[in-house]
Amino acid sequence: MVLKGILVTIATLLLLTDSSQSGNDDGCKPAPPSGCVYKVTDNLPTVICNNLNLKAIPTCLPGKTHPKKLIINGNNISQITSIRYDTLEYLYIESDNVLNIVLYAFGHLSNLTVLSLRNNFITDIQRDTFIGLTHLKELYLTNNSIKTLPHHAFFYLPQLKILEINKNSIASISDGAFANLTVLSELNLRDNKLIAVPKFNNTRLDLDILNLGQNKLTEIPHEPFKTLKYLKTLYLDDNEIITLPHSAFWGLDHLKLLHLENNQLSHIWYHLFLDPWESLLEVYLHNNNIAELNPIQLPWKQLHVVTLDDNHWLCTCKTVWMKSLRAVIDNSTSIICANPPEVQGQNILNLDDSSLHCSHSGVSIPGIIVGVLISLALLVTVGYLLYRCVKRKSIHLASTSVYRRMGGSHSNQRNGRELPVSNQTLHDEGDDEL
Ligand SMILES: *[C@@H]1O[C@H](CO)[C@@H](O)[C@H](O)[C@H]1NC(C)=O
Ligand SMILES: *[C@@H]1O[C@H](CO)[C@@H](O)[C@H](O)[C@H]1NC(C)=O
Ligand SMILES: *[C@@H]1O[C@H](CO)[C@@H](O)[C@H](O)[C@H]1NC(C)=O
Ligand SMILES: *[C@@H]1O[C@H](CO)[C@@H](O)[C@H](O)[C@H]1NC(C)=O
Ligand SMILES: *[C@@H]1O[C@H](CO)[C@@H](O)[C@H](O)[C@H]1NC(C)=O
Ligand SMILES: *[C@@H]1O[C@H](CO)[C@@H](O)[C@H](O)[C@H]1NC(C)=O
Repeated sequence: MVLKGILVTIATLLLLTDSSQSGNDDGCKPAPPSGCVYKVTDNLPTVICNNLNLKAIPTCLPGKTHPKKLIINGNNISQITSIRYDTLEYLYIESDNVLNIVLYAFGHLSNLTVLSLRNNFITDIQRDTFIGLTHLKELYLTNNSIKTLPHHAFFYLPQLKILEINKNSIASISDGAFANLTVLSELNLRDNKLIAVPKFNNTRLDLDILNLGQNKLTEIPHEPFKTLKYLKTLYLDDNEIITLPHSAFWGLDHLKLLHLENNQLSHIWYHLFLDPWESLLEVYLHNNNIAELNPIQLPWKQLHVVTLDDNHWLCTCKTVWMKSLRAVIDNSTSIICANPPEVQGQNILNLDDSSLHCSHSGVSIPGIIVGVLISLALLVTVGYLLYRCVKRKSIHLASTSVYRRMGGSHSNQRNGRELPVSNQTLHDEGDDEL
């Protein structure tokens, strides 16, 4: 009797368990994969089918309630076919050896807000790949094998806010690839093979963050980010950029963080930071080839972070002002001189003015006295010479006209005209150019 009772209890328990696991659709077949578990995470009915060596997305899932979150990571699903779980809000298909996605695969998932396909081998994205995901806010395609982004690649994702396509092999991006992404705020294209900055001018993008770091950019075109006027963070680090046009950051009135480190920048245009000036808080310039910066080239006082290490700093009187950066830059930063040779390898922050050959340095009372004495001596000499000249002029007045006709050595010939050129005029022209 006791035995029978126990058996009944066990049977009932089994039945109960079974009914709680037996799929959410009536007559769903085949039964859900045995390792898939149903549980509530973050108040969401969730199904997890991790590391089960599944070959396809299961057609039945465990659980009484329709899941809002489905996690199918670490399986062996080469192709994503149509997914019917229309209650889903979160879908993770990561590290599943996915090679391709059939068209309209996500066509039923109009409530999905987050889709992650990280760590797969997807090569191809098409205009219709994401059709139906009308409420998708975050799309993660990190670490796949995507090579190009075609025209209208994300056309059917009008609510997308975050798009991560970093760690792929993207070498080209068609014009209009980002069309319809009118609310996108973060675009991550880091660690790809881009040789040119994508064109953003034919789409309305209100990006906050744009990451183009770790690509193959060598040059930046004229006004490339002009339409991204709300951009706050721009990553251009770890490229091969040699120069930036003076219009590189035009239009970026709200830029706060600018990453230019680990490039080959040498010359920084005087007006480069004119536009982002007001809002700029962090500028990363370390590991480039920069020799000089100007004291008013960056809003030094307002910057919270500026990195200048590992450049080719020229340490002369012209750059001595950089010593005042001690107050702004991080204490661990060193501005090591590459030139001139006598100060090579030294930190400009620790050099005294005399080793920078500043002509105005070491001004002292004896110096002033010597200066005054030399000036006096010069004045006396000039006075004496003038006196001699006037005397000679009065004697040789008659011979001057003959001297002129023969093209005297005191005048230069230009356009057949005689132009008196003194050291003074040359000097003035030079000043105007500065
Ligand atoms: C994954 O599936 C492919 C065939 O689709 C197979 O060749 C491969 O061995 C599978 N990998 C694992 C780890 O099971
Ligand atoms: C999608 O979300 C809306 C609003 O939350 C809800 O009313 C609707 O039932 C959901 N659709 C499905 C198929 O779950
Ligand atoms: C990228 O994805 C591959 C395939 O899933 C994986 O082996 C590799 O560890 C991933 N790399 C990173 C950095 O996550
Ligand atoms: C894409 O944007 C166009 C206008 O640029 C609009 O007409 C169309 O409805 C949008 N498509 C989707 C799927 O949101
Ligand atoms: C975008 O800029 C490119 C040059 O960078 C230009 O050829 C193209 O006409 C511009 N497109 C629009 C819509 O302004
Ligand atoms: C650097 O260190 C000094 C004290 O050694 C400190 O007064 C100064 O605020 C520090 N500067 C920065 C930018 O951290």
